[in-house]
This record gives sequence, structure tokens and C-alpha cells, in this order.
Amino acid sequence: MSMKIPFIKSKQAVNADFDVTENIPDHVAIIMDGNGRWAEKRGLPRIAGHKEGVKAVMNVVRAANHAHVKVLTLYAFSTENWNRPKPEIDFLMKLPKEFLHIYLPELMENNVKIDTIGDFAALPAHTQKAVKYAKDKTKDNDGLLLNFALNYGSRYEIMQAIKQIMDDVDCNKVSVDAIDEDIFSEYLYTNGLSDPDLLIRTSGEKRLSNFLLWQLAYSEFWFTDVLWPDMDEKVFNEALKDYQNRKRRYGGI
Ligand code: IPE
Ligand code: IPE
Ligand code: MG
Repeated sequence: MSMKIPFIKSKQAVNADFDVTENIPDHVAIIMDGNGRWAEKRGLPRIAGHKEGVKAVMNVVRAANHAHVKVLTLYAFSTENWNRPKPEIDFLMKLPKEFLHIYLPELMENNVKIDTIGDFAALPAHTQKAVKYAKDKTKDNDGLLLNFALNYGSRYEIMQAIKQIMDDVDCNKVSVDAIDEDIFSEYLYTNGLSDPDLLIRTSGEKRLSNFLLWQLAYSEFWFTDVLWPDMDEKVFNEALKDYQNRKRRYGGI
């Protein structure tokens, strides 16, 4: 039985040294990295790290919920991850179903809405089916938006956007003169979402790996050596606390 965690409205209920009413990022994006190394350190196969990483996803969902983050975008599978060995890919493609099987009741209980960004149609049918079920089931929830980047690649996203805009120009749905940053953004998978305020990457790597290149233009970055399966509410809150002290200038003074 999973424990049911209700929405926590009062700041005291979370953590005394952490004010969840003060400057909380609306949108947090996370590059969940280090599953393989977590497993290798223990002499286990890489997939053991992926399995353990599922628990960390839920740790972070709970933490984000407690802090009233509005959108949590988690990089779960990149367009480049198809380059991995087939057994590892097959395992990763089964994880959404496993995650949802265990946690969908708790997510429903907490009013969490599930969505995805990425090339959904190119996922295996069984993965699509499990995720679509959860999207449908949670579609009317208006709490935390839990957004999985699944088969996501930022360059592909931008290229598709350009092709669609060109089609729309061809058939006079949009004029070239009217295209601006806002209109361009509507052609991206993230249409309707605010840009991430905070990007977190675990495992000590400091690169974007083709994640949200357009959307992260003015985001704050936070890196930790913690490997994804060890990610918990305490580490997530460290990132939030650090974010609370950032000065975002957007080119101003
Ligand atoms: C992140 O962990 C999960 C995915 C990319 C799917 P990795 O599998 O990249 O773990 P490392 O980087 O090899 O340790
Ligand atoms: C980025 O991690 C992709 C995901 C977390 C899903 P990778 O482990 O694939 O990135 P690289 O290869 O180290 O850049
Ligand atoms: Mg990695």
C-alpha cells in the first residue's frame, strides 16, 4: 500500500527552515541522470538503477506538490536514448506502466495531472497505451502538472515546429510577418506551458543533452552529484532554496 500524501497548504508542515510561500518556481524541469552509475556502483545491472529511479520520481513529485510547484517536467527518455542496447530500451519502455500501476492512485488522490512532451506516436504501443490511460484518467485534475519528456529531443521539436509553420504559411493560416517568439512557441510540444524557471540535473553532468533548448533560455540551473535513484525531497528542497536566492535579470540590471 502506498501512503497517501495530502496537499500540504501550510509552510510549517513541510520543513521549518524552508518557506514554501516565498519565490517558488512555477515550473521545474529535471534531467534525471545517473541510474546506470547508481547500479554499477552496487555491482548491479543498469536496469536495476532505472527500476530504483522510479521511486525517486515519486519522491520528487511529492516534494514538488508540497512546495506548490505548478509544473514538473521530467526528462525520462531522449531521442538519443534509442542508441542504447535493445534490452535496456525495452526495460525503459515498460517503466511508465510500472510507475503508473504503483502510483496512479496516489497521483489521483493528490489531484496530479499527467501529460507528456515528445514524439509520442513513435513509442511502443504498450507504452502509449499505459500513458494514454493515465493522461485520460487525470485530465480533469488541476493540481501539479506532471509532464514526462518521453522520446523527447529539442532539435527535433524545433525542426518540426519550423516545418509546421512553413505548412501553415503555405496555406495562409499564418503570415510570415506575424511570426514572433510567442507564435513560434505555440508550435512546440510545450505549447501553453510557461518556460521552466529552474532546471535541475543530477549525477554531476553539466550539459543539456538536447533538452528544452528554446524553453531554457532564461532558466536558472542547479546541478548536484546525487545520482537520480538517490534523489529525495531533501535534495529537491535544496534546489528550491537555492532558487529562492537567485536574482533573475533577463538582461536588465
Ligand atoms: C538516466 O540514467 C536515465 C535515462 C537516461 C533513461 P542513465 O541511464 O543515463 O544513467 P548513467 O548516466 O548511465 O549513469
Ligand atoms: C539525458 O541523459 C536524457 C535523460 C535523462 C532521459 P543521458 O544520460 O542520455 O545524457 P548523456 O548521454 O549523458 O548526455
Ligand atoms: Mg546518463
